[in-house]
Amino acid sequence: MERIDINGFEIFPGALDVQRQQAVLNDLRTVVQAAPLFHPETPRGRKMSVRMTSAGRVGWVTDRRGYRYEPHHPNGTPWPPIPDSVLAIWCDVAGIDRLPDCCLVNFYGEDARMGMHQDKDEGDFSYPVVSVSLGDEALFRMGNNRRGGKTESIWLRSGDVVKMGGEARLKFHGVDRVRFGTSTLLPKGGRINLTLRVVD
Ligand code: SIN
Ligand code: FE2
Repeated sequence: MERIDINGFEIFPGALDVQRQQAVLNDLRTVVQAAPLFHPETPRGRKMSVRMTSAGRVGWVTDRRGYRYEPHHPNGTPWPPIPDSVLAIWCDVAGIDRLPDCCLVNFYGEDARMGMHQDKDEGDFSYPVVSVSLGDEALFRMGNNRRGGKTESIWLRSGDVVKMGGEARLKFHGVDRVRFGTSTLLPKGGRINLTLRVVD
């Protein structure tokens, strides 16, 4: 597997061939049926531009009460299990014998983006976060342990996987924009990003 290291961010371009991307997408349809995508709100009351859901023992949520992991979807039902096709990606790149507790599913429509942030609601930062990109390509920006400073960007395409571990585990990162209609994987366009995390 090809691997690019950008300041500790490990990028695996084309880690998933089209067949595996399709298999994951099919399994995500089951996830979204059980746990519908919702439009989350930040603790300060701003609507996020992505739509979101989760699979796994816990799911990541945000609302006026803050950022946190919860065992239930906002509608009160437990999250569906993480599909085996997704766990297999974790096993390919994580390099540890623990499986993730949470698969956060972010859907980026035409104007969605993700501001620079750290993933820091988990209990143990020695575990990596693994991100999977499906659908339209996105400009992924990678920064530093503190907000600001020099950043580097890379276009993530359908089937690319990023591992944020080691020195990159707490680095700021975000998505500046999605180039809508650049992939045919999702029939109506858009982008799905999965992030797999060990939560506690
Ligand atoms: C995230 O860091 O939460 C999302 C990253 C991505 O969409 O590629
Ligand atoms: Fe993140």
